[in-house]
Amino acid sequence: MTKNKIILTGIKPTGTPHLGNLVGALLPAIKMANDPAAGQSFMFIADLHALNSTSDRTEIAKHSREIAAIMLALGLNTDRTVFFRQSDVPEISELTTLLLNVTPKGLMNRAHSYKAAVDKNIAAGTDPDAGINMGLYTYPILMTADILLYNSDIVPVGADQKQHVEFARDIAGYFNNIYGPIFKIPEPFIKKETGLIPGFDGRKMSKSYGNQIPIFDDENDLRKNIMKIVTDSKLPTEPKNPDESTIFQLYQHFADAVEVSQFRQKFTNGGTGYGDLKKILFEAVNNHLSGPREKYKKLMADPDKINAILSDGALRAHTVAGPMLARVKSAMLG
Ligand code: ADP
Ligand code: TRP
Repeated sequence: MTKNKIILTGIKPTGTPHLGNLVGALLPAIKMANDPAAGQSFMFIADLHALNSTSDRTEIAKHSREIAAIMLALGLNTDRTVFFRQSDVPEISELTTLLLNVTPKGLMNRAHSYKAAVDKNIAAGTDPDAGINMGLYTYPILMTADILLYNSDIVPVGADQKQHVEFARDIAGYFNNIYGPIFKIPEPFIKKETGLIPGFDGRKMSKSYGNQIPIFDDENDLRKNIMKIVTDSKLPTEPKNPDESTIFQLYQHFADAVEVSQFRQKFTNGGTGYGDLKKILFEAVNNHLSGPREKYKKLMADPDKINAILSDGALRAHTVAGPMLARVKSAMLG
């Protein structure tokens, strides 16, 4: 389905990526971007988007660097994929300003992210718009500009971002109706449900719950985090239910089918305690991540290298963004 298509996705630098992000978002995006049958792919660090939820530039810069190093360590092929930092391509801000004028305000009122913030305020008994800045309110327009500026055909996103891609389709349509067929209508690609990766307390792994396991924690921290996984109180001899176990759910993503079925039997047969099951899980996760972890460490120690790769990406992005913006300006302003 991606044959000769332009694929684009963005990652917001608002936290240190964890195993849930790895399995649910980063690995599928890298796989798609590296697919030799696909056309051009673009991947960027959405640092301008981070601004609507934080004013801490040190954190944004740190997480941007981490995401860049993670993607490179996990094997993103930057010969194929244009990999860049959103704010390094200023055309994005100009296109956003232009698109503001074809976007109905009512569309933004319906955005899930804005509505969720309003609902939270109402529940807390404060002003409905308390703490909501215009960056958050117009977030879907910046995201639309991200998508349209690079002529994207396919936008791989998590289910939570589907509405934003639908808005990009709507806004491209409004624009084309007024000014002629300049924009392609992009398609969201919602990744096949990987299942939600649980954190060590059994709830969805998420930075908002503080139950996350960072991808490239060093080996000891990774072991400690895995040993923290909450279990029931079954004795080693007793059979256990793999489908209710966070240990088993995590393991599935770091082992092949044969290993998974052997691990399942260790649960159902009884005879293996949770401590030992956690050790097996640790080995599997660590085996998967130890090679990329070394690459990650090297990259994090070499910021110039990361910057050089991102700057090269920005230049390549600019060669697509520049002519596209020129077409839009000419259609709107003559
Ligand atoms: P968090 O919940 O930690 O704030 P984000 O909302 O920034 O994570 O997630 C970015 C993307 O990572 C999501 O769109 C989703 O695809 C993926 N993701 C996040 N948490 C998980 C999880 N626990 N299991 C699977 N995928 C996840
Ligand atoms: N909004 C996305 C998120 O929070 C990140 C993002 C920004 C993005 N611009 C994009 C994703 C363009 C896909 C396409 O996860």
